[in-house]
Amino acid sequence: MIRTQVGIIGAGPAGFMLSHLLHLEGIESVIIERSQKDHVRSRLRAGVLEQGTVEMMREVGLGERMDRLALEQHALDFRFNNRSHRLDFHEASGGRSAWVYPQYEVVADLMQAREEAGAQIFYDAPVTHIEGLEGSRPTIHFESEGQPLELSCDFVAGCDGFRGISRSAIPDDKLRLYDRVYPFGWLGILADAPPAIQDITWGCHPDGFAMMSIRTPEVTRLYLQCDPDDSPDNWSDDRIWAALHKRLDVDGQPPINEGRITQKAITAMRSFICEPMRFGRLFLAGDAAHIVPPTGAKGLNAAMADIKVLGRSLVEHYKRHDQRWLDGYADTCLERMWLVQRFSAGLCTMVHQFPGQSAFERGMQLADLNYMTGTREGRAVFAHNFTGLPVQA
Ligand code: APR
Repeated sequence: MIRTQVGIIGAGPAGFMLSHLLHLEGIESVIIERSQKDHVRSRLRAGVLEQGTVEMMREVGLGERMDRLALEQHALDFRFNNRSHRLDFHEASGGRSAWVYPQYEVVADLMQAREEAGAQIFYDAPVTHIEGLEGSRPTIHFESEGQPLELSCDFVAGCDGFRGISRSAIPDDKLRLYDRVYPFGWLGILADAPPAIQDITWGCHPDGFAMMSIRTPEVTRLYLQCDPDDSPDNWSDDRIWAALHKRLDVDGQPPINEGRITQKAITAMRSFICEPMRFGRLFLAGDAAHIVPPTGAKGLNAAMADIKVLGRSLVEHYKRHDQRWLDGYADTCLERMWLVQRFSAGLCTMVHQFPGQSAFERGMQLADLNYMTGTREGRAVFAHNFTGLPVQA
C-alpha cells in the first residue's frame, strides 16, 4: 500500500497543476495516469489562455517559456454580413489579454517542473475504483505493470477528464448531470500557412461557422462547422479552402492564406456540468466535472480556475486547519462555472447555423452579434468573459 496526502487521478493540466501547487506548499501528492507518458505529452488540444491562467502560470514559477513563446492577442475579428467587426477586448476590458499557447506546452511545462522536483507519477496505470470516500482515508485502486496497487490518501482529486472514473464514484442519487449536445461539430485543420492577420477571426456565415487563428507565425489553426457525424475523409483540401474562403473572407480584409494541410479532425460539441463537484473526500476538477463547447476557448482555463480554488482549499486545510475552503469548494467553482457555461453556450448559439433554423432566429443571431461588437456595453461584457472571470481564491 502506497501512502500520500492527496491522491490525484489524471495527468492532464488539472492534475499536474494541482500536484505542482501542493508541492510549492510542502503538501505531498501522487499522480496516477491511465495513458503512457508520450501520449500525455503530445496530445493536441485547445490553446488559448485567458489572463488569469497566464498570471497563475507566472505565480507558480512557470511563466518563463510561456512569456517567450505565447502570442498575446488583443482583438477578435467577427465577420458577418460581408464585413469585419473587430472587437478589441484588450481595450474593452481595461488592458486584459488572451494568449495563444497550446495546451501541450502547458502540460510540458508542468510535467518538467514535477519531474525536476521528483514527483511520484504512475503512467500507464488505470484507476479501477475508489473506496472509502465517506470515511477518513480513501483508497485508490489502480493497475501498474499488470499488478493491482493501492494508494491510501487523505483526499482524492478527480482530475481524470470527461471519460474518467472518479465521477462514477458519486452515487447516482446524489448526482445531477446537465447536458446539451449540439447538432454540429468542428472540423479542425492545421495548415502550414502564415495567418493573413494576427487577430483571431470568426466567420459567422449562413453556410456555418468558421474560425482562423494564429498557431505560430508560420502555422494557422482553422475550424469549419460541419455535421457531427461527418468524416474528415469527406473534406478534400479544395473543399476545405473553398469553404474557409466563403465563410471568412470579407470586403476590405486580406483573404485567408492557403498552405499545406497537415491535420484534419472532427470534434463533437457539448455543454456538460456535474453537481456536486465534491462527494466526501473526492473533489472533481476540470473536464471530470464540466465540458464547454470550444467556442470561447474556456476548457483549459476552467480547469485551471478549479485547481486554483482546490489548491487554496487544501492549503487552508493542511496549513491552518481551516475546513471552510474545502466545504465551500463545490459551490465556489460551480457558481463561476455556470457563468462560463453561459458565455460558452451563448456564443456557440450566436455564431453557428442550426439545422432548420428560421429566418427570425438568424435575425436574432445578427442582432446579438451587432450588439456585442457594435456597442460599448456589448464589447465590455464579451471582453470581461473572454479574458476570464475572476476566481475566488
Ligand atoms: N485512471 C487514470 N487516469 C485516467 C483515468 C483512469 N481511470 N481516466 C482518465 N484518466 C486520465 C486521462 O488519460 C487524462 O490524461 O485523466 C487525464 C484527464 O486529463 P484531461 O482530459 O486533459 O482533463 P483536465 O486535466 O481536466 O484538462 C481539461 O482538457 O479536454 C481538455 O478542453 C479541455 O483543455 C481542457 C483540459
